Amino acid sequence: MLQPVILSGGSGTRLWPASRETYPKQLLPLTGEDSLLQITAQRLNGFSADIAKPIVVTNEEHRFIIAEQMRQIGQPSDRIVLEPVGRNTAPAMQLAALIATQEGGDPVLLVMPADQIVTNTPAFHAAMSEGLKQAESGALVTFGIVPDRAETGYGYLRTGDIMPGASSASSASSASSARALAAFVEKPDAARAAEYVASGQYLWNAGIFMMRASVWLKALAALAPEIAAACQASVNEARRDTDFIRVNKAAFTACPSNSIDYAVMEQLGTHPELGQAVVVPMDAGWSDVGAWDALWAVCDKDSAGNVTQGDVMLEDTADSLIFAQSRLVATVGIKDLIVVETPDAIMVADKSRAQDVKKIVTRIKAEG
Ligand code: GDD
Ligand code: MG
Repeated sequence: MLQPVILSGGSGTRLWPASRETYPKQLLPLTGEDSLLQITAQRLNGFSADIAKPIVVTNEEHRFIIAEQMRQIGQPSDRIVLEPVGRNTAPAMQLAALIATQEGGDPVLLVMPADQIVTNTPAFHAAMSEGLKQAESGALVTFGIVPDRAETGYGYLRTGDIMPGASSASSASSASSARALAAFVEKPDAARAAEYVASGQYLWNAGIFMMRASVWLKALAALAPEIAAACQASVNEARRDTDFIRVNKAAFTACPSNSIDYAVMEQLGTHPELGQAVVVPMDAGWSDVGAWDALWAVCDKDSAGNVTQGDVMLEDTADSLIFAQSRLVATVGIKDLIVVETPDAIMVADKSRAQDVKKIVTRIKAEG
């Protein structure tokens, strides 16, 4: 049994003003009709495996939107796990693992961030089925993307030898073969990131993980016992309210905050007893839509290279992203700009400065 787990706890500040704490980027229809959350859940449609209903881990505030969006795509979740506070991804995955095994069984968890785009679904499925073979035999599986720049916001995976049982790379399938994960380095500094990219031995960590629930539970108990204990206590005292599972507030609030990457994946190299770490290379048009320029890069464009949404009128405008939510937005003679209009805020930015949008959000929070 494959158990999808969707992590939907972030707020996506670099996609302000469309993305807000009350309505974060993963719940927005940024690339068309469906939200990133909906696209994520639908990405498994047609994947040939026995797939359970997804577990979604999120916070109290987004519960109704999430329930509704999952219903809209015909994939109602019967387990929407509500965190009283964000404690990063390791506790979120731990809650999902505990809940997935509550009724016995040992499903393979497929943990996916709710805010990514994958344009080549068949290639994604091929990578997932390669990962599934490895995960079923006890491996902790990551998925690797060929890097095209020295991005410091990602994890880096050093690839080792081809795994036994891996698909042949020359087969018709577009998935490459599973390899041993020789090292995992989360968010290296710029110099090291550049070195890794130049070496040709590293892939970016896609942020998607696959492993048996029992393998994860054992690894987390060994590497982050305080997280394991706090999550166990918060699930023991959880309250179920139809499809919502509210974990105990006091117990979860006491949980240390850490990510899957730092708490577990980086540590595996020195703990071979916890299982084989594996990387499956994935060439599937992956993007994590971190900022407006990344969204522009993955969306379909008009003949002048523009990505638009809503009521827009463009005159001599090129290579720009123009989103209008509530009014007509008109542009004349511009290039490489991001223009985002919402009822209460308008943002205009140079496309090359898309990362700095978070500075505005920080100022709004500080200055009120
Ligand atoms: N439920 C829940 N609770 N979800 C969370 C929480 C939380 O406290 N914190 C983050 N998430 C969700 C985010 O919404 C996102 O979908 C996913 O978990 C990953 O968290 P990010 O905060 O976006 O991680 P990152 O981008 O810094 O790094 C991760 O992803 C990169 C690829 O996009 C790492 O896995 C990197 O190694 C990786 O390269
Ligand atoms: Mg991210």
